Amino acid sequence: MKHILVTGGAGYIGAHTVHLLLRRGYEVTVVDDLSRGHRHNVAPDRLRILPLADTDRLTELLRSKPFEAVVHFAAYIAVGESSREPEMYFTNNVSGSLSLFTAMARAQVSRLVFSSTAAVYGTPARVPITEDMPIQPVSPYGDSKAMVEKILGWLDQRRELRSISLRYFNACGAEPDSGLGEEHDPETHLIPLLLRAVETGHPITLFGDDYATPDGTCIRDYIHVSDLAEAHILALEHLIGGGASHAFNAGTGTGHSVLEVLRAVEQVTGEKVPHTMGPRRAGDAAVLVADSNQLQSTLGWKPRYTDLREIVRTAFEFARKR
Ligand code: UFG
Repeated sequence: MKHILVTGGAGYIGAHTVHLLLRRGYEVTVVDDLSRGHRHNVAPDRLRILPLADTDRLTELLRSKPFEAVVHFAAYIAVGESSREPEMYFTNNVSGSLSLFTAMARAQVSRLVFSSTAAVYGTPARVPITEDMPIQPVSPYGDSKAMVEKILGWLDQRRELRSISLRYFNACGAEPDSGLGEEHDPETHLIPLLLRAVETGHPITLFGDDYATPDGTCIRDYIHVSDLAEAHILALEHLIGGGASHAFNAGTGTGHSVLEVLRAVEQVTGEKVPHTMGPRRAGDAAVLVADSNQLQSTLGWKPRYTDLREIVRTAFEFARKR
């Protein structure tokens, strides 16, 4: 039985990855401070409520079992909030990660899968985005993740810490019948907000239709959370098999505009989405689409969900059962 420590396993992507790890026969311990994650996402006997900043207790925990690796999700993730509260983001996301890496070094755990983000690219000069494009984040959130990637580069050299960073594009959807789904508070993401507009009748504001895209709205690469969870398992297997450190984009390679997503929600729910068109949201790039060829060729990853309506359907099923 391989033991894996998952930080932030009570959050959206973390809980989906824990679910898949357990199905694949891994033994999982979750560390989460529940500041953003949900207690109901984790079995009580698996959960250790602990801040990342507590290096000593993390060390003790990492020494308590023969952990093969750590999958590190725990972080704040809201781009807008990070611009208002940069200190909070750098403290939690960067200092928190350093505390974890210090504990890992002390406990001699030397493999890590890290949640990174497409936000490390900022406003890229071209799409699809390849991993060799410049790292130029435009928000404290994106920079906090870029900083951790940089630290991991040094720890690879100096501490033989092997890591895979996965730069997520737009995670969405839910694993059917898992009880898990997207429930951020406050919610800022497009698909849950469109579903909420249908449910409540309160219109959602769409952020701009004057972008240089075919219908004027922003284009994003929507990747199903279960496909993202699978990428983490493949990354773990790569590291456990002695693979080298790397950063990979995690997206489908297909872009959808905000209006296309809205139409998919209308098709799935059979209802009109009440909406109004507002101005652009600061910091939004017109088009963000991943080139994920490296993830596919190096780790053998392949997205199972390629139809936007199927992705939306899984999010709708989750929202309906809540
Ligand atoms: N949008 C609206 N109205 C809303 C919410 C979103 O029109 O109420 C639009 C946004 O302007 C954007 C698209 O829907 O064009 C998707 O927005 P999300 O907020 O769902 O996602 P983002 O693309 O802004 O952010 C995602 C991740 C971030 C990550 C970023 C990488 O959630 O964590 O991709 O660029 F940093």
